[in-house]
Amino acid sequence: MNEKQRIESQQATANPSDKKSEKDYSKYFERVITAPSLKEAKRRGKEDVQYHHDFSIPEEFRGMGEGRKFYIRTYGCQMNEHDTEVMAGIFEALGYEPTDTTEDANVILLNTCAIRENAENKVFGELGHLKALKKENPDLLLGVCGCMSQEESVVNKILKTYHHVDMIFGTHNIHRLPHILNEAYLSKEMVVEVWSKEGDVIENLPKVRRGNIKAWVNIMYGCDKFCTYCIVPFTRGKERSRRPEEIIQEVRHLAAQGYQEVTLLGQNVNAYGKDFEDIKYGLGDLMDELRKIDIPRIRFTTSHPRDFDDHLIEVLAKGGNLMNHIHLPVQSGSTDVLKIMARKYTREQYLELVRKIKAAIPDVTLTTDIIVGYPNETEEQFEETMSLYREVGYETAYTFIYSPREGTPAAKMVDNVPLEVKKERLQRLNNLVNELSAQAMKKYEGQIVEVLVDGESKNNPDVLAGYTTKNKLVNFKGPKTAIGKIVKVKITEAKTWSLNGEMVEELEAAEVK
Ligand code: 5AD
Ligand code: SF4
Repeated sequence: MNEKQRIESQQATANPSDKKSEKDYSKYFERVITAPSLKEAKRRGKEDVQYHHDFSIPEEFRGMGEGRKFYIRTYGCQMNEHDTEVMAGIFEALGYEPTDTTEDANVILLNTCAIRENAENKVFGELGHLKALKKENPDLLLGVCGCMSQEESVVNKILKTYHHVDMIFGTHNIHRLPHILNEAYLSKEMVVEVWSKEGDVIENLPKVRRGNIKAWVNIMYGCDKFCTYCIVPFTRGKERSRRPEEIIQEVRHLAAQGYQEVTLLGQNVNAYGKDFEDIKYGLGDLMDELRKIDIPRIRFTTSHPRDFDDHLIEVLAKGGNLMNHIHLPVQSGSTDVLKIMARKYTREQYLELVRKIKAAIPDVTLTTDIIVGYPNETEEQFEETMSLYREVGYETAYTFIYSPREGTPAAKMVDNVPLEVKKERLQRLNNLVNELSAQAMKKYEGQIVEVLVDGESKNNPDVLAGYTTKNKLVNFKGPKTAIGKIVKVKITEAKTWSLNGEMVEELEAAEVK
């Protein structure tokens, strides 16, 4: 499919003239190029993924950004952070300059997250704040992109109540940014271009990476798991893997540029390669190739326990530049709740996977994501989550109260758990997370760890900060020349969420003097 056919097919499948959208958007019809439809987003087509290398800035848009500045605020996960890097690349290719302040910007984008209601509320709050700026500067373009723009209800709400927004575009429309900006400048009406069905894979989009020490590398897009609580399969489309040779080349290139760490990204990285028709190739195969590249650290996120296979464990056990930290979201410790969540594993199967990982990689660190207060979760089921947490011995976790997402199966479930009970369970779980985290951190005291130095600490420019192989934050005194390098640090004090230490080389030098 070429670009024109792709656009036509998207418009044919997710056009405001389809029944649902017509009802929602008729009032704003002239403004809407393509509107989102969750129903459409749910469909999984059989057609092959097409790979494109033909992205370029159309002649007529070159220089569009001259004398103009852009500002992007990013919410949500690393995938969004990385999308922001791509959009920054497109802006700069159009001649725009970046700016750190909204007051200075000619274009402001909010790259949004839809995972929980409070993530969305933050964005609506920010849109409210930006109204004053837009009033002062009517030439300012204000755009909403990312996961929230894939939701019909959000687009409706913006159309109805946030008239100062100039453009809304979806996660599959990022490469269309030059066209969307052009449209917004010309029409001065709100421009909405959201394809509900995933696009193909476009390989040669420009990127401006944040920093030159650590880099994100997409290995796949989308998710086909449809956990009953989750909006991601709707906002990010079906699973599409990048070809291994493209990923390997990108990582090699990053290594040659001096990057010290790459994090491979995907909503469910363990499903990598499942969509290839011509080769049998999974995440284990990819990691086995990547580990041979001369780059000090390789990580990946996020894993789904269901697809975490033995070959991957075997490869990770080879160590080297493959980091000994695995983020393995469990969501619940109760088999019954897992079933309602459609996670497709039981408590026992998860524990068996953990056992295999620990047997193969004895010094592995595990972290997880947990949702409490799922519809109708009982006290006993919650207690099973608490006991699993202890049994696995996670070093830390991200914990959330279940948040209903419109269009997902869980949002339709009748829920008999009062919010107060959910809050109290979260508190109990967080107490356990803090207790185990503090215990895990305490063990580092007196140890010498390897730290990749990111830069100055956020709170104190006299202190450097970086991360261990297990992704623990370390603050320590050291020379600025250490930034971007991996140094040895002796841990002197453990806090709940970070470690303090002293750089070993510097200590030795001081002793010699
Ligand atoms: N409510 C609460 N938490 C959620 N997550 C995903 N969807 C929801 C939801 N509807 C959590 C899961 C996931 C993490 C990224 O966010 O724990 O792993
Ligand atoms: Fe949020 Fe998920 Fe979208 Fe990331 S992919 S921004 S976590 S909704």
